[in-house]
Amino acid sequence: MINLAIIGTSWITQQFIEAADETKSFKLTRVYSRTEAKAQTFIDGLSKELDSSSVKISTDLDKFFASEDFDTVYIASPNALHFAQARQAIESGKNVIVEKPSTSTIREYTILDTLAHEKGVYFFEAARQIHEPIFKKIQAYVDANREQLTGATLSYMKYSSKMDSFLAGNKPNIFNPKFSGGALYDLGVYAVYDSIVLFGAPNKVDYEPELLSTGIDGSGSLTLKYDKFDVNIIVGKTKNSYMPSEIYFGKKTLLMDSAGDITKISEANADKQISVIPTTKSDNPMDSEAVEFARIMNENDTATYDKLSSYARRVNRVLEQARTSAGLVFEADKEK
Ligand SMILES: NC(=O)c1ccc[n+]([C@@H]2O[C@H](COP(=O)([O-])OP(=O)(O)OC[C@H]3O[C@@H](n4cnc5c(N)ncnc54)[C@H](OP(=O)(O)O)[C@@H]3O)[C@@H](O)[C@H]2O)c1
Repeated sequence: MINLAIIGTSWITQQFIEAADETKSFKLTRVYSRTEAKAQTFIDGLSKELDSSSVKISTDLDKFFASEDFDTVYIASPNALHFAQARQAIESGKNVIVEKPSTSTIREYTILDTLAHEKGVYFFEAARQIHEPIFKKIQAYVDANREQLTGATLSYMKYSSKMDSFLAGNKPNIFNPKFSGGALYDLGVYAVYDSIVLFGAPNKVDYEPELLSTGIDGSGSLTLKYDKFDVNIIVGKTKNSYMPSEIYFGKKTLLMDSAGDITKISEANADKQISVIPTTKSDNPMDSEAVEFARIMNENDTATYDKLSSYARRVNRVLEQARTSAGLVFEADKEK
């Protein structure tokens, strides 16, 4: 059994805990929050099917990481906090599962990856969609038709639940350069993952953001240039898009209903006839990654772990290259 602790008490952590519990491989043992009351409310709000009676609370990070009742920590704090928290976790000998993007800069990514190898612990970036069966179907389709590949348009735009607060004059973490927020890092990361896993690392990266008053990108368009084709990515947190994402193979097109929350895929053939490709989809989009992380740790599957690490490294590099191309600066850049 993998004893699990968590940092961050928002809905996404609840979703991960429920997915982790489903695997029967994880047991939640400790919750970190800045306040005891919030931690307790979080524990009380967990599914009643999950036995949370013995879950402990920490409000001090040093004491939290000194606890021996967990070996793996799931981190879902604002992006800019991931690095210091993950580093402390790894230094304390804990495996880490960090929400995407795991770091703000490639420098941070490299430090964590190196440290995890030195300490002999796992450092996972939680890129949920690439572990889902529907994504594996896309991957198989691309592999089978790779010779005909002529590019992709990937779209992921969702009006943020924090947007109204932002428009009211507040500065939620996700629209704050201090916390490495913005459309590219929050939603673009999914499309960049699609591209890296399906097509490999691009030769050139160019991002054209639409900036908010905080200097953060509310939306933008990202071009990834490969040898023989381009991938065009549209991301946004200030509007809702219902555009499908598409991967092109000459006369044929693979359609996905989203670049990040993929629930349906279909194929348009050379005669422009569209047929749905049957797939399965779990209610909880984090189920597949939880199963995979547990399996890799339990079986010590270093080959798969190395492959996931190489994806994460390339994604973090592309995100930084995209920011650099647009002159987007995070506070984390000053740490160099
Ligand atoms: N995979 C997915 O589908 C998915 C979906 C949503 C988000 N995410 C990722 O999850 C992470 C968290 O996103 P979120 O929207 O939940 O962030 P958030 O609401 O801004 O913060 C998450 C938690 O971090 C703590 N926190 C907030 N502000 C803080 C501060 N100033 N200093 C220290 N701790 C602070 C809070 O916990 P306490 O108050 O209890 O300390 C809070 O519950 C991000 O990396 C995001 O990209 C992933």
